[in-house]
Amino acid sequence: MTTTHAFWLAGRQATGEDTIDVTSPWDGRLVGKVSVPTEAQVEQAVAAADAVRDEFAATPAHVRAAALDHVSRRIVERTEELARLISAENGKPMKWARGEVGRAVSVFRFAAEEARRFNGGEAQRLDTDAGGVGRLALTRRYPRGTVLGIAPFNFPLNLCAHKVAPAIAVGTPIILKPAPATPLSGLVIGELLAETELPEGSWSILPVANESMPALVQDPRLPVISFTGSDKVGYQILDSVPRKHATLELGGNGAALVLADWSSDEDLDRAAARIATFSNYQGGQSCISVQRVIADASVYDRLVPKIVAAVEGLVTGDPSDDATDVGPLVSEDAAKRVESWVEEAVQAGAKVLTGAKRDGASYAPTVLAEVPAEVTISCEEVFGPVMTVHRVDGEDEAFAVANDSKYGLQAGVFTHDVQTAFRAHRSLEVGGVIVGDVPSYRADQMPYGGTKRSGVGREGVRFAMEDYTYQRVMVLTGLDL
Ligand code: SIN
Repeated sequence: MTTTHAFWLAGRQATGEDTIDVTSPWDGRLVGKVSVPTEAQVEQAVAAADAVRDEFAATPAHVRAAALDHVSRRIVERTEELARLISAENGKPMKWARGEVGRAVSVFRFAAEEARRFNGGEAQRLDTDAGGVGRLALTRRYPRGTVLGIAPFNFPLNLCAHKVAPAIAVGTPIILKPAPATPLSGLVIGELLAETELPEGSWSILPVANESMPALVQDPRLPVISFTGSDKVGYQILDSVPRKHATLELGGNGAALVLADWSSDEDLDRAAARIATFSNYQGGQSCISVQRVIADASVYDRLVPKIVAAVEGLVTGDPSDDATDVGPLVSEDAAKRVESWVEEAVQAGAKVLTGAKRDGASYAPTVLAEVPAEVTISCEEVFGPVMTVHRVDGEDEAFAVANDSKYGLQAGVFTHDVQTAFRAHRSLEVGGVIVGDVPSYRADQMPYGGTKRSGVGREGVRFAMEDYTYQRVMVLTGLDL
């Protein structure tokens, strides 16, 4: 019999009336049943968070840091179990699932470290003008209020960690909603938080159904929203609560630019291997996977066959197998959508260099050339294992083609020239430029987020902590400075 997983209401396990089934995208087996909170239980969680706000904000830094360190250590101890869970509910190959667990360990550890040094307070002398003689400004950061964290399916553990850990680090309550397709990994964070001394009510993990979310988003007791997901849903949320503080981590169609100086056989082999891997990691279901390859005409004809060979060398199949590089997408519907976008491109004249085959929820790693600019795959985030290749003349055209997108999350620039790197950093309209590598590199402590339709605000532990708080200044007067 399959166990029904409880959710976490104000730090305690609870069950509701309904359940949702969590199934493996690979073989359709039932991975677990998850209890869904009732409206009354959601209300209890929000009320408890509201009631504990002041107490939690006053919790000493060492208590919050100890709790975060505890979660980090416990994730280490449960690495293999968690990786298997991520792989089962999401279809992510084990090698990538283990990587995700390692990143979540770091996120909680970084948050513990930041909790210890955050908000020391900054002093500013005010006697720079006659009216400020004897006055000193002290600036500290205070929580904006309870955070509603909404996490996606593609990193079911680590993107939950990115919502929860910074909230604990600054002492602000959080209500976390994991993705309906992959709630199990996020619920394990609850098991580990329940082993700590954090005040009751300071955290809840509620697998609320998507249909019930609009009411929660509107709730004035939840003034901060941290959402990761599609741009469509993200902007619906923002438009529905324009006066709330929202951080939106949305889509991207990451470009890898291979410039003229990246031209030796060794250079091109490396670029091809990185591009093939990171167009297809997690079935391409990462906002910073490589969707567009923009190659200088002087290297294009040597690079593209190497990319095709590297893509064809990827091992596809069962995500629970250690050898697998590319598993299924999150659902058969997701794979059918990718298939329909590729078919549309091909009918409009695109050439398939490899792939373009679907089997259930799996879609073969695919490379497309000569893709017309107006088809869906040229304009939208594919979120699947498909890349398009483009030939350009020179750096300026490469930057212009990369910027010709409604998204702006990250870009990778293969160049050895530091001046080109600085020009790319200045010219590319994205949240991050990775030099000498693909756009898919993310270190969890660095600022992460986009421009244009890729979102608003930044995550990355310290940056989320700043985002969850605001500056409050205190002016001391009559001082003998
Ligand atoms: C995302 O898909 O936006 C997250 C990417 C990552 O954390 O590596």
